[in-house]
Order: sequence, then structure tokens, then C-alpha cells
Amino acid sequence: MGRVSSGVEGLDEMLYGGFIPERSYLIAGGPGAGKTIFCMQYLMEGIQKNEKGLYIALEEPAHELRQDMQSFGWDIQRIKILNTMQDITSGMWSLKAPGQVGHPEFNLKTLVKTLRDIMGNYQPKRIVLDSLTSLKVLYGSESHARRELLAFINYLESTGATTLITSELLDEKTTMEEFLTSGVIKLHLIENEGERINALSVQKMRGSNFDKHMRPLKITEKGIRVFNNESVFS
Ligand SMILES: Nc1ncnc2c1ncn2[C@@H]1O[C@H](COP(=O)(O)OP(=O)(O)O)[C@@H](O)[C@H]1O
Ligand SMILES: [Mg+2]
Repeated sequence: MGRVSSGVEGLDEMLYGGFIPERSYLIAGGPGAGKTIFCMQYLMEGIQKNEKGLYIALEEPAHELRQDMQSFGWDIQRIKILNTMQDITSGMWSLKAPGQVGHPEFNLKTLVKTLRDIMGNYQPKRIVLDSLTSLKVLYGSESHARRELLAFINYLESTGATTLITSELLDEKTTMEEFLTSGVIKLHLIENEGERINALSVQKMRGSNFDKHMRPLKITEKGIRVFNNESVFS
């Protein structure tokens, strides 16, 4: 079976070819670790291959996202952004109410409903949900959140798209989303002698072998690149 290329130089080799199609993967890391850039780069890779992309923005308004991504020279006009933030300035795709984060009826269930509507005339091969953390707070109990998240992931996989879900990681605790997704990639920001080093590790990859080492990563004006022949600590 073919793999889905990540678009991140050096990463497909670590994944023994890339992501397995029609599955969902977790991109976890602390703030500023590069999750949003990683996911946009993944969608832009799809655009290169004529695969439609959908970005579900739960964290920042679409106009800010466009601004942030401009420095990489990416034409993100070609990606559909499902904008769940209050964003009065844009003429972009917006969710029909109840669609806004903060709206009492906004949750994973209503999000699936909205996605079903969208899929009627737009079938993306690549989907990004950024981030799950902002949705998890809606649930009072861990078991409720887990049930809804599982249903959400099952729905995504039934659409035929390969999905990346970002998750805010503040400590080394294992989160439920790590169990529910097919694979987990962690983005690290490491303090080393007063210097901050970006790194990436693959934590889990169902159905495939993968590189078990943590590898250095660089964010430049070209995007994210992984150095899969180097180690973080020499
Ligand atoms: N043009 C750029 N060149 C180099 N580094 C950049 C550039 N743009 C952003 N960054 C780095 O990327 C980080 C933000 O990445 P982002 O994907 O938004 O993080 P996250 O979504 O994990 O919070 C910034 O803190 C900065 O270090
Ligand atoms: Mg982000």
C-alpha cells in the first residue's frame, strides 16, 4: 500500500515511507514547537500533488494564520480553512452556527455535522485539526471526551482522508489522544546550555516500523526540516 508523504524533509524516511492512508495521527508538542507549521506544510505537500486539503482552525483566526504562513511563501489560498474563530475581517469559509468555539453547542459532534455538510461538495484527501486541546476542555469527564473523540476519529477515517490532529503537550503525561490515534509524533523544544533546540521523535506508528531516535529539527523560511542522520545530543 502506498504511503502519504508528510511534506517534511527527512520525516518520511523516519516513518518508513510516510503516513498510512486514511488514518489519523497526533502531532503533539508544547507552544511554539512547530505544530501549526508542520500541519500547514503537510497540507501544502498535498496541494503540490493535487490533493485537496482542509484545515480546521480552532486556535487562531484564519487571517492570522495566513499572515503567519506568508513567511514560508506558501500559497495557502489553495487550502480550505474551516474557520471556527470569530473572524469578521475575512470572507473565508465560516462554520454555520452553532459553529464558533465558545458557543454552547460547539463540540466534536456538531463539528462532525458541519464536516458532513462540507464533504458533500469538497472531498479533501488531507485534513488537519488544530488543536484538539481547545476542544477537550468542553468535556466534563475524561470518559465522555474519550468516547466523543473516538467517534470523531472513526468519522474522519471513514471520509478517506489522512488526518493530522495537534495536541498541546505541557508535561510528559500520556494523553488519551495518544491511544486513540494510529500514530504519534512529538515536537520538542529542549533547553541545552542556554540554547533552545527543536527536535522530533516518533512515539508510535501502528502497522509500521519507524525510527526510534529523537532527531534534530529546524524551522527556517522554507518550513520544517528533520535531520534524520543526526542525533540531538552529540
Ligand atoms: N519564518 C520563520 N523562520 C524560522 N522560524 C520560524 C518562522 N516562523 C515561525 N518560526 C518559529 O516557529 C514557531 C511557531 O511555530 P508554530 O507552528 O506556530 O508552533 P505551535 O503551533 O506548536 O505553537 C515560532 O515560535 C518560531 O520559533
Ligand atoms: Mg499552533
